[in-house]
Amino acid sequence: MSNGNMNLTLKIWRQPNTNASGKMETYTLGGVSPDMSFLEMIDVLNDKLIREGKDPVAFDHDCREGICGMCSMFINGEAHGPNKGVTTCQLHMRSFKDGDTIYIEPWRSEGFPVIKDLMVDRSAFDRIIQSGGFISVNTSGRTMDANAIPVAKEDADKSFDAATCIGCGACVATCPNSSAMLFVSAKVSQFALLPQGHPERKERVTNMVKQMDAEGFGNCSNIGACEVQCPKSISIENIARMNREYLSASIKPEN
Ligand code: SF4
Ligand code: FES
Repeated sequence: MSNGNMNLTLKIWRQPNTNASGKMETYTLGGVSPDMSFLEMIDVLNDKLIREGKDPVAFDHDCREGICGMCSMFINGEAHGPNKGVTTCQLHMRSFKDGDTIYIEPWRSEGFPVIKDLMVDRSAFDRIIQSGGFISVNTSGRTMDANAIPVAKEDADKSFDAATCIGCGACVATCPNSSAMLFVSAKVSQFALLPQGHPERKERVTNMVKQMDAEGFGNCSNIGACEVQCPKSISIENIARMNREYLSASIKPEN
């Protein structure tokens, strides 16, 4: 096209609510700039649908800069689309071609029921965090400055890498077992690697794994798809660390 804009065919999962059955609907959209983000492209589609008196496509989004983890969807069968190490909001339409057909679907996992269209309920992750993904610190005027505790550089770096998990759920959605172990292990690791996380490390890993199982997520069978599709490139090394933490918490007495 002379102005560089694209015409697209969009096949989008439409599902009115959790209990209704959904189906793929086809939409055509013209004038899509390669500089638009993927979410801006859906905004343009929704403007068009609203003007036509139709129901816009429901999708989750918030920060639109790769931080919040809300913009979760499958694009052409890949979590967060074709580019590695980015979220859907960081994906640009220049990654597609004029005339392309793009398939857009919600996460598919029993642990993440569809709320509407592309939106899924990821509150299972919130409940896992509530079960132990924190440290208990009593704050007072005499609280020790966290920077006063020495931390080895390598541990600090690994902890920071684990802490970049944004809770998007791509790992679960991609795993054939719907395993949440990449997510949970990142959250366990960020504390297990730091002295501040040590006092509660046993109960943390025990409770988080228990809640993960209660939510119906499957086990890890070392397929590794989660690491490939994770927009933050969280390493499956964290799963091995969580397994060691769990084993150690299981076999050693509390005191
Ligand atoms: S481990 Fe990666 S894919 Fe899984 S929730 Fe965290 S950021 Fe998303
Ligand atoms: S909208 Fe926040 S990570 Fe995409």
